[in-house]
Amino acid sequence: MRMRKKKNLSSRMDACGALLVQNPAAEKGRWRAHKPDAALLRLELGCGKGRFTAETAAAHPSDLYVAVERVPDAMVIAMERCRALGLTNVLFIDGDAAALEQYFAPGEVDLIYINFCDPWPSVKHSRRRLTHEGFLRGYRRVLREGGQIQFKTDNRALFDWSLFQFPKAGFSLSQVTRNLHEHGIQGVMTDYEEKFHALGTPINRCVGTMGPLPDVPLPDGLARRLPDWELRPVDGSGTDAVLALLQSDPAYFDLEGRQPTAQSLRDDMALLPPRCMPEQKRYLALWRDDAPQAVLDLVEGYPRERTLYVGFFFLSPALRRQGLGREIMDAVLQAAGDAGMDNARLACLLNNAGGHAFWRSLGFGDLRRGETIGEHSNPVWEMERLL
Ligand SMILES: C[S@@+](CC[C@H](N)C(=O)[O-])C[C@H]1O[C@@H](n2cnc3c(N)ncnc32)[C@H](O)[C@@H]1O
Repeated sequence: MRMRKKKNLSSRMDACGALLVQNPAAEKGRWRAHKPDAALLRLELGCGKGRFTAETAAAHPSDLYVAVERVPDAMVIAMERCRALGLTNVLFIDGDAAALEQYFAPGEVDLIYINFCDPWPSVKHSRRRLTHEGFLRGYRRVLREGGQIQFKTDNRALFDWSLFQFPKAGFSLSQVTRNLHEHGIQGVMTDYEEKFHALGTPINRCVGTMGPLPDVPLPDGLARRLPDWELRPVDGSGTDAVLALLQSDPAYFDLEGRQPTAQSLRDDMALLPPRCMPEQKRYLALWRDDAPQAVLDLVEGYPRERTLYVGFFFLSPALRRQGLGREIMDAVLQAAGDAGMDNARLACLLNNAGGHAFWRSLGFGDLRRGETIGEHSNPVWEMERLL
């Protein structure tokens, strides 16, 4: 939040001194001493000017409410609001959501609010989003088992991306809506929410409930289930060898109507389904005997949060008809299940009868006819399988 420097900031902060916790690390594990009868400890990250803070704390006088904000110029307004209402159950931390572990003991927090956090639209900054898997895993260290994160945003792209982050950090989703106020105002509004709602922007909201962490992230599960293969991301190095592998089967690419080139490989490495982020995609080569023998393009969380999308699977012609393709795909599907996915989807070229029979034998069924994404679209069977 960019704000003009507030005049008299320090005197205004001093006037609200009773609400500001000067040394939050000293309160770690002792927050409830501020309100021994507190039923819940509610924590808000990035409270801004605090309309939501003041109204929610006022609505729950029997709970302790702690608001974290790293811009004092905004926080002082939130503190003044709470002071004006005479609230005694609210405390403020002039600090960083990334440092919660320093402020709270494990399990000390019951509920976390993240409202209209900065979207950091550039992919290279995605780790700074307060709903990034890394942050969510950090919140786990202070939330009690079964505790909740309530998340609201006007930013649809951030919301869709966040829905994919929650399950990866072991939070099950509920109350997912992309138009919270469709049938009238729901709950307490934040300052940002009021502004965006007035402009007609739909508000997205979801609740994440903390459960066990997904057992094994997909790359780890794959490595574990394919011990005889070396899994290497196809990035800068090794792409020549991968291209040579693909070029060893011109008949397959005749079906697509284009032969692989260095450029088409680069395009495929970067190609993403709609609304997906690069970190959802794994473009992998399976190496054995110092050469890539198979290529996999997997997208986690497309088109739904718990779906693995198999964008491409290619096995060296020399290794076919030995059960290896089935072995590799069985491992992929099992690893996807271990990573918390509940179904898999793919698109099989309509003219690829052999491929279609292969996927059917693996338990995939036809969903509908469609088109491949990308520059060269081809008619396909969209296929699905539950895991
Ligand atoms: C877009 S504003 C939203 C404010 C308020 N939640 C609302 O909905 O009106 C985001 C707020 O989060 C704060 N913020 C962003 N990252 C933060 C972090 N890592 N720790 C604490 N506050 C943060 C910003 O300073 C800003 O006040």
